[in-house]
Amino acid sequence: MTRKIHLIAAARPNFMKIAPIWRAMTENSTVLEPVLIHTGQHYDKNMSDVFFEDLGLPKPDVHLGIGGGTHAHQVAGVMLKYEELCLADRPDLVLVVGDVNATMATSLVATKLHIPVAHVEAGLRSRDRTMPEEINRLVTDAIADLLFTPSPDADANLRSEGVPDHKIKLVGNIMIDSLVRTISRARELEVFTRYGLEDGGYGVVTLHRPSNVDDPATLEAILRVLAGVGMPLLFPVHPRTRAVMEKHDLVTRCGLADSDLKFIEPLGYYEFMNLVAHCRLMLTDSGGLQEETTYLKIPCLTLRPNTERPITIEQGTNELATVESLPGQVERILAGQWKEGTVPDLWDGKTAPRIVRELEEYLAGRPA
Ligand code: UD1
Repeated sequence: MTRKIHLIAAARPNFMKIAPIWRAMTENSTVLEPVLIHTGQHYDKNMSDVFFEDLGLPKPDVHLGIGGGTHAHQVAGVMLKYEELCLADRPDLVLVVGDVNATMATSLVATKLHIPVAHVEAGLRSRDRTMPEEINRLVTDAIADLLFTPSPDADANLRSEGVPDHKIKLVGNIMIDSLVRTISRARELEVFTRYGLEDGGYGVVTLHRPSNVDDPATLEAILRVLAGVGMPLLFPVHPRTRAVMEKHDLVTRCGLADSDLKFIEPLGYYEFMNLVAHCRLMLTDSGGLQEETTYLKIPCLTLRPNTERPITIEQGTNELATVESLPGQVERILAGQWKEGTVPDLWDGKTAPRIVRELEEYLAGRPA
C-alpha cells in the first residue's frame, strides 16, 4: 500500500531541499508516493523554473499560483488554496522544508486537518524575532509531528522548547545532498570567465534580507563598502534588492557603474554554484550559502547580526560581519589568514535517504 506525501516548495531555497527528497522517494521507496506542490511564492523563470530544470525535478503536480505580496497576503492566500487541495486530495503526510512563509502556512493547514507534518531543517534559531523566517520556524516546529534536524544545536534548541525526543530526528543537512550531486558538473562550467574573471580572483555577493535591502540608506552604505574592498565582486541581484536599487537609482548615486562591484541577473543552480566553487570569498545574508561555503571550505562573511546556523561559524568557514568590520575581514581572507573549517557530521549527501527511512517507519505505525 502506498502513502501519499505532499512535498511543499515555494521559494528559491526550497527547491534544492525538495529535489533530493523527491528523488529518494521516487527511486528508493515503494511506499512513499510524492506529490510535488509549488505554492508560487517565487515565480520568475530565473527564480523558479531554472531550478526545477537544473535539479532534475518534474513540473509540479499542483501549482497554487500564490505570488508575491505582504506576509498576511502570502500566508492567507496559501492557506485558503492549500486547504481546498488537502480536503480534496487527503495526503497521508505533508513535508515542508526551510523557513519561508509557505512552510508555516501549509503546516498550519495540515495540522488543523489532522494530517501529520514533517519539517526538514527544523530547530534552527537566530533568536531574532524581527526576521520573518524566525517566526515561521517557531510556529512550524511547535506544531510539526516530525522534526528533521541538520545539526546537534538544532536538537538542543528543540529540547529547550519542550519538544519530546521521539519527534526529533537528526538526519543531516538536506541542502548538501543537492550540492554533492551537482558540484563536479558545476565546477566544470566556466561561468566566471564570462565576466572576465579568473579562478580564485573574485568574490560573490548575495543580499536580500529585508534588514539589509529594504531601507535604501542601509543598502547604499553596504554597496559603498563592497565597491571598495579591493577585489572584483559579482553580485547576482535578487528581485527584492533590485527593486530598491532601481527606485533609488543607487548605482548612479554611489558611482558604481565602473566599480569593482558588478551587478548581474540571478543565475540558475549550476551556473551560480560554478561562481561559488571558484570564488575567493562569499559575502552574503543568505542562510543556505553559509552552509554551502562551509561544505566547500570557502571563506564566508555573513552580513547579519546573528545566524540560525551557528555551526557554520563554530566548525565551518563563516563569520558574521558589519559594514564596519567587513574591510578588515576581507583583508584577513586575502592575506590567507582565514580558518579552513571542517564539514559538520552528516553533511554528507545522504540526508534524503535517511529522511525517507524515518518517514516509512513513522507511517508504518499509523493507520492508512
Ligand atoms: C523569501 C523568503 C526568504 C528566503 C528568500 C529567498 C519569506 C518570509 N522569505 O524572501 O526566507 O530567504 O525568499 O529568495 O518567505 N519577486 C519577484 N520574482 C520572484 C520572486 C520574488 O519579482 O520570482 C519579488 C516579490 O514580488 C517581492 C520581492 O521579490 O516583491 C520579495 O519576494 P518574497 O517572496 O516576498 O520574499 P523574499 O525576499 O524573496
